[in-house]
Amino acid sequence: MSSIWGNKVKISLFGESHGVGIGAVIDGLPAGYAIDLERANRHMKRRSPGYQPGATARREEDRVRILSGLYMDKTTGTPLCALIENHDTKSADYSKISAKPRPGHADLTGLARYEGSNDPRGGGHFSGRLTAPLTFAGALALQILESRGVIVRAHIYSIGTIEDTPYDPMKIPKDCSEHSIPVISEGQGLKMRELIETLRNELDSVGGVIECIVTGFPAGLGRPIFDNIESRLSSIIFGIPAVKGIEFGRGFGVSSQKGSTNNDEPYMTERGIRLRTNHAGGIEGGITNGMPILLRCAFKPTPSIGKQQNTVNLETMSDDTIEVGGRHDSCIVPRAVPVVESAVAFALLDIMEEG
Ligand SMILES: Cc1cc2nc3c(=O)[nH]c(=O)nc-3n(C[C@H](O)[C@H](O)[C@H](O)COP(=O)(O)O)c2cc1C
Repeated sequence: MSSIWGNKVKISLFGESHGVGIGAVIDGLPAGYAIDLERANRHMKRRSPGYQPGATARREEDRVRILSGLYMDKTTGTPLCALIENHDTKSADYSKISAKPRPGHADLTGLARYEGSNDPRGGGHFSGRLTAPLTFAGALALQILESRGVIVRAHIYSIGTIEDTPYDPMKIPKDCSEHSIPVISEGQGLKMRELIETLRNELDSVGGVIECIVTGFPAGLGRPIFDNIESRLSSIIFGIPAVKGIEFGRGFGVSSQKGSTNNDEPYMTERGIRLRTNHAGGIEGGITNGMPILLRCAFKPTPSIGKQQNTVNLETMSDDTIEVGGRHDSCIVPRAVPVVESAVAFALLDIMEEG
Protein backbone atom coordinates (compact mmCIF):
# COMPACT_ATOMS: atom_id res chain seq x y z
CA MET A 1 0.00 0.00 0.00
CA SER A 2 1.31 3.42 -0.85
CA SER A 3 0.62 5.43 2.24
CA ILE A 4 3.74 7.58 2.07
CA TRP A 5 3.61 11.21 0.88
CA GLY A 6 6.15 14.03 0.54
CA ASN A 7 9.47 14.94 -1.07
CA LYS A 8 11.43 16.68 1.70
CA VAL A 9 9.03 16.36 4.64
CA LYS A 10 7.56 12.87 4.34
CA ILE A 11 4.64 11.24 6.12
CA SER A 12 4.11 7.50 6.32
CA LEU A 13 0.67 6.49 7.64
CA PHE A 14 0.07 3.09 9.22
CA GLY A 15 -2.73 1.17 10.90
CA GLU A 16 -6.28 -0.07 10.48
CA SER A 17 -9.57 1.18 11.89
CA HIS A 18 -10.05 -1.80 14.25
CA GLY A 19 -6.41 -2.83 14.73
CA VAL A 20 -4.25 -2.01 17.75
CA GLY A 21 -3.68 1.53 16.62
CA ILE A 22 -2.97 3.98 13.84
CA GLY A 23 -0.21 6.51 13.43
CA ALA A 24 2.39 8.27 11.38
CA VAL A 25 6.12 8.50 11.01
CA ILE A 26 7.07 12.00 9.86
CA ASP A 27 10.54 12.41 8.44
CA GLY A 28 12.31 15.63 7.47
CA LEU A 29 10.58 18.06 9.85
CA PRO A 30 12.83 21.09 10.33
CA ALA A 31 14.65 20.98 13.69
CA GLY A 32 14.21 23.34 16.62
CA TYR A 33 10.57 24.36 16.19
CA ALA A 34 8.56 24.71 19.42
CA ILE A 35 5.38 22.60 19.34
CA ASP A 36 2.42 23.38 21.60
CA LEU A 37 0.98 19.90 22.12
CA GLU A 38 -2.17 21.18 23.82
CA ARG A 39 -2.90 23.22 20.73
CA ALA A 40 -2.23 20.20 18.52
CA ASN A 41 -4.68 18.20 20.65
CA ARG A 42 -7.36 20.88 20.27
CA HIS A 43 -6.90 20.66 16.51
CA MET A 44 -7.25 16.85 16.73
CA LYS A 45 -10.44 17.20 18.76
CA ARG A 46 -12.13 19.06 15.92
CA ARG A 47 -11.75 15.87 13.84
CA SER A 48 -12.47 13.28 16.49
CA PRO A 49 -16.05 11.97 16.66
CA GLY A 50 -18.54 13.27 19.21
CA TYR A 51 -17.80 16.93 18.70
CA GLN A 52 -19.78 17.62 15.52
CA PRO A 53 -23.42 17.04 14.50
CA GLY A 54 -23.96 13.91 12.39
CA ALA A 55 -20.72 12.34 13.58
CA THR A 56 -20.33 8.63 14.26
CA ALA A 57 -21.14 7.46 17.78
CA ARG A 58 -17.72 5.78 17.96
CA ARG A 59 -15.90 7.42 20.88
CA GLU A 60 -12.18 7.76 20.38
CA GLU A 61 -10.17 10.28 22.32
CA ASP A 62 -7.42 10.25 19.71
CA ARG A 63 -4.72 10.91 22.31
CA VAL A 64 -1.42 10.98 20.49
CA ARG A 65 1.60 9.24 22.00
CA ILE A 66 4.82 10.63 20.58
CA LEU A 67 7.51 7.98 20.55
CA SER A 68 10.31 10.03 18.98
CA GLY A 69 11.26 13.23 17.22
CA LEU A 70 10.26 15.72 19.94
CA TYR A 71 12.57 16.73 22.78
CA MET A 72 11.75 19.44 25.35
CA ASP A 73 8.67 20.27 23.19
CA LYS A 74 10.82 21.06 20.16
CA THR A 75 11.25 19.16 16.91
CA THR A 76 14.55 17.30 16.83
CA GLY A 77 14.70 17.04 13.05
CA THR A 78 14.85 13.25 13.26
CA PRO A 79 11.83 11.01 12.47
CA LEU A 80 8.80 11.81 14.63
CA CYS A 81 6.65 8.78 15.37
CA ALA A 82 3.08 9.43 16.58
CA LEU A 83 0.86 6.58 17.76
CA ILE A 84 -2.89 6.70 18.40
CA GLU A 85 -4.39 3.62 20.01
CA ASN A 86 -7.82 2.30 18.95
CA HIS A 87 -10.12 1.71 21.91
CA ASP A 88 -13.80 1.85 20.91
CA THR A 89 -13.85 -0.91 18.28
CA LYS A 90 -16.96 -3.04 17.66
CA SER A 91 -15.83 -5.39 14.93
CA ALA A 92 -18.95 -7.57 15.27
CA ASP A 93 -20.83 -4.78 13.48
CA TYR A 94 -18.82 -5.60 10.39
CA SER A 95 -18.74 -9.40 10.44
CA LYS A 96 -22.36 -9.44 9.23
CA ILE A 97 -21.58 -7.29 6.23
CA SER A 98 -18.23 -8.77 5.22
CA ALA A 99 -20.01 -11.05 2.73
CA LYS A 100 -21.97 -8.09 1.42
CA PRO A 101 -19.77 -5.25 0.12
CA ARG A 102 -21.06 -1.80 1.01
CA PRO A 103 -21.98 0.27 -2.05
CA GLY A 104 -19.70 3.30 -2.30
CA HIS A 105 -17.08 2.02 0.16
CA ALA A 106 -13.79 0.27 -0.59
CA ASP A 107 -14.99 -3.25 0.33
CA LEU A 108 -15.12 -4.51 -3.27
CA THR A 109 -12.02 -2.72 -4.51
CA GLY A 110 -10.04 -3.81 -1.41
CA LEU A 111 -11.04 -7.39 -2.16
CA ALA A 112 -10.07 -7.05 -5.82
CA ARG A 113 -6.69 -5.51 -4.92
CA TYR A 114 -5.65 -7.65 -1.95
CA GLU A 115 -7.57 -10.83 -2.72
CA GLY A 116 -9.18 -10.91 0.71
CA SER A 117 -5.97 -10.45 2.74
CA ASN A 118 -6.69 -6.88 3.85
CA ASP A 119 -8.32 -6.16 7.22
CA PRO A 120 -11.95 -5.30 6.34
CA ARG A 121 -13.06 -4.31 9.86
CA GLY A 122 -14.38 -0.77 9.85
CA GLY A 123 -12.88 -0.20 6.40
CA GLY A 124 -9.39 -1.25 7.63
CA HIS A 125 -6.67 0.95 6.16
CA PHE A 126 -9.27 2.65 3.90
CA SER A 127 -11.11 4.06 6.93
CA GLY A 128 -11.63 7.77 7.53
CA ARG A 129 -9.92 7.03 10.85
CA LEU A 130 -6.56 7.14 9.04
CA THR A 131 -7.08 10.90 8.75
CA ALA A 132 -6.33 11.20 12.51
CA PRO A 133 -2.53 10.83 12.15
CA LEU A 134 -2.59 13.02 9.03
CA THR A 135 -4.43 15.65 11.08
CA PHE A 136 -1.78 15.42 13.78
CA ALA A 137 1.06 15.79 11.27
CA GLY A 138 -0.80 18.80 9.91
CA ALA A 139 -1.17 20.26 13.40
CA LEU A 140 2.63 20.34 13.63
CA ALA A 141 2.96 21.78 10.12
CA LEU A 142 0.35 24.47 10.92
CA GLN A 143 2.41 25.63 13.92
CA ILE A 144 5.69 25.66 11.98
CA LEU A 145 4.05 27.57 9.11
CA GLU A 146 2.46 30.04 11.52
CA SER A 147 5.87 30.85 12.99
CA ARG A 148 6.85 31.75 9.40
CA GLY A 149 3.81 34.02 8.95
CA VAL A 150 1.70 31.52 6.97
CA ILE A 151 -1.92 30.99 8.08
CA VAL A 152 -4.12 28.12 6.82
CA ARG A 153 -7.88 28.25 7.44
CA ALA A 154 -10.88 26.28 6.20
CA HIS A 155 -14.65 26.37 6.58
CA ILE A 156 -17.65 24.47 5.32
CA TYR A 157 -18.49 26.03 1.96
CA SER A 158 -21.64 23.94 1.52
CA ILE A 159 -23.53 20.92 2.76
CA GLY A 160 -26.03 19.58 0.25
CA THR A 161 -27.39 22.75 -1.38
CA ILE A 162 -26.94 24.97 1.70
CA GLU A 163 -24.05 27.38 1.21
CA ASP A 164 -21.99 29.44 3.64
CA THR A 165 -20.65 32.90 2.71
CA PRO A 166 -17.60 32.17 0.52
CA TYR A 167 -14.14 33.40 1.51
CA ASP A 168 -12.98 36.72 0.10
CA PRO A 169 -10.00 35.47 -2.00
CA MET A 170 -8.03 38.64 -1.23
CA LYS A 171 -7.76 38.47 2.55
CA ILE A 172 -7.51 36.42 5.70
CA PRO A 173 -10.95 35.27 6.91
CA LYS A 174 -12.26 35.23 10.47
CA ASP A 175 -11.37 32.13 12.45
CA CYS A 176 -14.41 29.87 12.94
CA SER A 177 -12.46 26.81 14.05
CA GLU A 178 -14.10 26.75 17.50
CA HIS A 179 -17.57 26.07 16.01
CA SER A 180 -18.72 22.46 15.71
CA ILE A 181 -20.08 23.55 12.29
CA PRO A 182 -17.24 25.83 11.15
CA VAL A 183 -18.96 28.45 8.97
CA ILE A 184 -18.87 32.22 8.58
CA SER A 185 -22.66 32.64 8.54
CA GLU A 186 -24.06 31.09 11.72
CA GLY A 187 -27.59 31.11 10.23
CA GLN A 188 -26.44 28.91 7.36
CA GLY A 189 -24.64 26.69 9.87
CA LEU A 190 -27.95 26.08 11.67
CA LYS A 191 -29.62 25.09 8.40
CA MET A 192 -26.73 22.71 7.68
CA ARG A 193 -27.13 21.18 11.12
CA GLU A 194 -30.86 20.61 10.49
CA LEU A 195 -30.16 19.03 7.11
CA ILE A 196 -27.61 16.62 8.58
CA GLU A 197 -30.09 15.66 11.32
CA THR A 198 -32.89 15.10 8.78
CA LEU A 199 -30.67 12.85 6.67
CA ARG A 200 -29.57 10.95 9.76
CA ASN A 201 -33.23 10.30 10.69
CA GLU A 202 -33.86 9.10 7.15
CA LEU A 203 -30.94 6.63 7.57
CA ASP A 204 -29.21 8.49 4.74
CA SER A 205 -26.19 10.79 4.39
CA VAL A 206 -25.16 14.01 2.69
CA GLY A 207 -21.97 15.45 1.16
CA GLY A 208 -20.52 18.93 0.87
CA VAL A 209 -17.64 21.19 -0.03
CA ILE A 210 -14.79 22.55 2.12
CA GLU A 211 -13.05 25.79 1.20
CA CYS A 212 -9.48 26.44 2.34
CA ILE A 213 -7.39 29.61 2.15
CA VAL A 214 -3.71 30.20 2.86
CA THR A 215 -2.30 33.67 3.51
CA GLY A 216 1.32 34.74 3.85
CA PHE A 217 2.74 32.03 1.62
CA PRO A 218 5.64 33.47 -0.39
CA ALA A 219 5.62 33.98 -4.16
CA GLY A 220 7.90 31.88 -6.33
CA LEU A 221 7.53 28.45 -4.74
CA GLY A 222 6.53 25.36 -6.69
CA ARG A 223 7.55 24.02 -10.06
CA PRO A 224 6.01 23.98 -13.54
CA ILE A 225 4.51 20.95 -15.32
CA PHE A 226 4.03 17.78 -13.25
CA ASP A 227 5.24 18.79 -9.80
CA ASN A 228 3.21 22.00 -9.75
CA ILE A 229 1.48 23.36 -6.66
CA GLU A 230 -2.01 22.35 -7.83
CA SER A 231 -0.98 18.74 -8.44
CA ARG A 232 0.92 18.53 -5.13
CA LEU A 233 -2.04 19.87 -3.17
CA SER A 234 -4.48 17.69 -5.11
CA SER A 235 -2.39 14.60 -4.51
CA ILE A 236 -2.42 14.98 -0.72
CA ILE A 237 -6.09 16.06 -0.60
CA PHE A 238 -7.15 13.03 -2.65
CA GLY A 239 -5.45 11.03 0.11
CA ILE A 240 -8.43 12.00 2.28
CA PRO A 241 -11.11 9.35 1.81
CA ALA A 242 -14.39 10.55 0.22
CA VAL A 243 -12.83 13.52 -1.63
CA LYS A 244 -14.14 13.47 -5.20
CA GLY A 245 -13.21 16.84 -6.65
CA ILE A 246 -10.97 19.86 -6.20
CA GLU A 247 -10.79 23.33 -7.72
CA PHE A 248 -8.45 26.28 -7.28
CA GLY A 249 -9.42 29.96 -7.27
CA ARG A 250 -12.46 30.36 -9.52
CA GLY A 251 -12.08 26.71 -10.45
CA PHE A 252 -14.63 25.39 -12.95
CA GLY A 253 -16.13 28.89 -12.94
CA VAL A 254 -13.28 30.10 -15.22
CA SER A 255 -14.89 28.30 -18.14
CA SER A 256 -17.72 30.84 -18.33
CA GLN A 257 -15.42 33.90 -18.07
CA LYS A 258 -13.66 36.02 -20.69
CA GLY A 259 -9.89 36.57 -20.52
CA SER A 260 -10.57 40.20 -19.68
CA THR A 261 -12.74 39.28 -16.68
CA ASN A 262 -10.64 36.37 -15.49
CA ASN A 263 -7.06 37.67 -15.66
CA ASP A 264 -5.59 38.97 -12.40
CA GLU A 265 -3.91 42.26 -13.34
CA PRO A 266 -0.63 43.22 -11.63
CA TYR A 267 0.04 46.72 -10.29
CA MET A 268 2.95 48.41 -8.52
CA THR A 269 2.93 49.17 -4.81
CA GLU A 270 5.63 50.46 -2.47
CA ARG A 271 6.02 46.88 -1.20
CA GLY A 272 6.36 45.38 -4.68
CA ILE A 273 4.02 43.93 -7.31
CA ARG A 274 0.47 42.97 -6.26
CA LEU A 275 -2.50 41.61 -8.19
CA ARG A 276 -5.82 43.48 -8.29
CA THR A 277 -7.91 40.28 -8.08
CA ASN A 278 -7.25 36.67 -7.16
CA HIS A 279 -9.23 34.50 -9.57
CA ALA A 280 -6.24 32.18 -9.98
CA GLY A 281 -6.28 31.26 -6.28
CA GLY A 282 -2.67 32.31 -5.77
CA ILE A 283 -1.13 29.92 -8.33
CA GLU A 284 -0.01 30.67 -11.89
CA GLY A 285 2.15 28.34 -13.98
CA GLY A 286 2.13 25.91 -11.06
CA ILE A 287 4.03 28.46 -8.95
CA THR A 288 2.72 30.65 -6.13
CA ASN A 289 2.19 34.33 -7.01
CA GLY A 290 2.07 35.66 -3.43
CA MET A 291 -1.73 36.07 -3.33
CA PRO A 292 -3.73 33.87 -0.94
CA ILE A 293 -3.92 30.24 -2.10
CA LEU A 294 -7.60 29.30 -2.38
CA LEU A 295 -9.07 25.86 -3.03
CA ARG A 296 -12.32 23.96 -2.58
CA CYS A 297 -12.71 20.19 -2.33
CA ALA A 298 -15.91 18.16 -2.68
CA PHE A 299 -16.79 15.32 -0.30
CA LYS A 300 -19.28 12.67 -1.29
CA PRO A 301 -22.07 11.57 1.08
CA THR A 302 -20.95 8.94 3.60
CA PRO A 303 -21.27 5.59 1.82
CA SER A 304 -22.32 3.51 4.88
CA ILE A 305 -26.02 4.24 5.37
CA GLY A 306 -28.84 2.45 7.20
CA LYS A 307 -31.23 2.74 4.26
CA GLN A 308 -31.70 -0.46 2.31
CA GLN A 309 -29.53 -0.69 -0.83
CA ASN A 310 -28.77 -3.29 -3.42
CA THR A 311 -25.49 -5.19 -3.33
CA VAL A 312 -24.16 -8.70 -3.94
CA ASN A 313 -23.67 -11.61 -1.56
CA LEU A 314 -20.18 -13.07 -1.90
CA GLU A 315 -21.12 -16.28 -0.04
CA THR A 316 -24.14 -17.16 -2.16
CA MET A 317 -22.78 -15.33 -5.24
CA SER A 318 -26.17 -13.76 -5.86
CA ASP A 319 -27.82 -10.35 -5.69
CA ASP A 320 -28.77 -9.23 -2.20
CA THR A 321 -29.64 -6.14 -0.16
CA ILE A 322 -27.81 -4.38 2.65
CA GLU A 323 -28.69 -1.99 5.48
CA VAL A 324 -25.38 -0.89 6.95
CA GLY A 325 -25.40 -1.02 10.73
CA GLY A 326 -22.56 0.08 12.98
CA ARG A 327 -21.63 3.65 13.73
CA HIS A 328 -21.15 6.07 10.88
CA ASP A 329 -21.02 9.78 10.17
CA SER A 330 -24.19 10.96 8.42
CA CYS A 331 -22.04 13.81 7.10
CA ILE A 332 -18.25 13.63 6.91
CA VAL A 333 -17.76 17.31 6.11
CA PRO A 334 -17.69 18.95 9.60
CA ARG A 335 -15.06 16.46 10.80
CA ALA A 336 -13.04 16.85 7.60
CA VAL A 337 -12.44 20.62 7.95
CA PRO A 338 -9.32 20.24 10.18
CA VAL A 339 -8.20 17.33 7.99
CA VAL A 340 -8.17 19.58 4.91
CA GLU A 341 -6.32 22.31 6.84
CA SER A 342 -3.78 19.70 7.91
CA ALA A 343 -3.27 18.20 4.46
CA VAL A 344 -2.77 21.66 2.93
CA ALA A 345 -0.38 22.74 5.72
CA PHE A 346 1.67 19.55 5.42
CA ALA A 347 1.99 19.91 1.64
CA LEU A 348 2.97 23.57 1.88
CA LEU A 349 5.59 22.85 4.54
CA ASP A 350 7.07 20.20 2.24
CA ILE A 351 7.06 22.64 -0.69
CA MET A 352 8.67 25.36 1.46
CA GLU A 353 11.39 23.00 2.71
CA GLU A 354 12.12 21.99 -0.89
CA GLY A 355 12.68 25.66 -1.76
C1 LIG B 1 -13.20 12.07 8.58
C2 LIG B 1 -13.83 10.99 7.76
C3 LIG B 1 -14.80 10.15 8.33
C4 LIG B 1 -15.41 9.15 7.58
N1 LIG B 1 -16.37 8.40 8.18
C5 LIG B 1 -17.00 7.43 7.45
C6 LIG B 1 -18.02 6.62 8.07
O1 LIG B 1 -18.38 6.79 9.22
N2 LIG B 1 -18.60 5.67 7.28
C7 LIG B 1 -18.25 5.46 5.98
O2 LIG B 1 -18.80 4.60 5.32
N3 LIG B 1 -17.31 6.21 5.39
C8 LIG B 1 -16.67 7.19 6.09
N4 LIG B 1 -15.70 7.95 5.48
C9 LIG B 1 -15.47 7.80 4.03
C10 LIG B 1 -14.81 6.50 3.64
O3 LIG B 1 -13.63 6.29 4.36
C11 LIG B 1 -14.55 6.48 2.11
O4 LIG B 1 -15.68 6.87 1.41
C12 LIG B 1 -14.11 5.10 1.66
O5 LIG B 1 -12.85 4.80 2.22
C13 LIG B 1 -14.01 4.96 0.15
O6 LIG B 1 -13.07 5.87 -0.38
P1 LIG B 1 -13.49 6.94 -1.49
O7 LIG B 1 -14.79 7.53 -1.03
O8 LIG B 1 -12.38 7.95 -1.47
O9 LIG B 1 -13.63 6.24 -2.79
C14 LIG B 1 -15.05 8.96 6.22
C15 LIG B 1 -14.06 9.78 5.65
C16 LIG B 1 -13.46 10.79 6.40
C17 LIG B 1 -12.45 11.69 5.76
